[in-house]
Amino acid sequence: MRVRILTLFPEMFDALKSSVVGRASRSGLVEIETVDIRSFTRDKRHKADDYAFGGGPGLVMYAQPVIDAMEYASRPPFDPASGRRVSLSPRGSVLTQRVVERLARYDNLALLCGHYEGIDQRALDACVDEEISIGDYILTGGEPAAIVLVDAVSRLVPGVLGSSESARDESFSDAGLLEYPQYTHPRVVNGAAVPDVLIGGNHAAIAAWKREQSLRITLERRPDLLERAGLTDKEKGLVALWRQEQRA
Ligand SMILES: C[S@@+](CC[C@H](N)C(=O)[O-])C[C@H]1O[C@@H](n2cnc3c(N)ncnc32)[C@H](O)[C@@H]1O
Repeated sequence: MRVRILTLFPEMFDALKSSVVGRASRSGLVEIETVDIRSFTRDKRHKADDYAFGGGPGLVMYAQPVIDAMEYASRPPFDPASGRRVSLSPRGSVLTQRVVERLARYDNLALLCGHYEGIDQRALDACVDEEISIGDYILTGGEPAAIVLVDAVSRLVPGVLGSSESARDESFSDAGLLEYPQYTHPRVVNGAAVPDVLIGGNHAAIAAWKREQSLRITLERRPDLLERAGLTDKEKGLVALWRQEQRA
């Protein structure tokens, strides 16, 4: 996958040089390139923003450098047919694991980061396929949102994670439930022991325990997810019972 990030602050993407995404980038599985929007400004002072027409606080990023930067970011081998141009924006549709999975299917992503009060609408109309928000709050710029998106999408690129299992069993993955609790060595920490079932070697019992724990945690923390989780009749009965216990 190739990701080109349009930003006024390329240095913020040093965060993507570490850990799993850094390794994926060094091995060429995910090619990450920043495109400095300021270098596409046309005045001597490289001014990238100005006051908003119609008043209002703050500055708005000019359309022209953004359009030119996107044209540059869309150069081959970026192929518009297999690529997606995304603007990070609080007005966008909210990033969920489903959206991450959809975006991971593109070979090329161009991510546009706004700053200040945002970007001149004409640039968004001219060169963006969709707007994505990382949640209902306001950041100072789209850069942290782009880092979140690149991180989440990269780990779905085949080969990026050590084991293909790792991406399958997690919260919001296929089953749409939150993940069960995880334990590692030693078996006892501060008097707290690992649940017996996990060291008993009975794989069916372990799978049943994990599923039940996922259901319980999802019911406690994100009951909304249960509606779409495709539970069996037996599981629906269990959840109904736990709900009764919660109310009692
Ligand atoms: C201060 S915000 C602008 C907010 C804008 N005036 C509004 O009220 O919708 C500056 C930039 O940060 C980014 N941003 C802020 N919050 C975001 C969020 N929740 N998700 C994605 N990007 C966000 C966008 O790129 C935005 O252009």
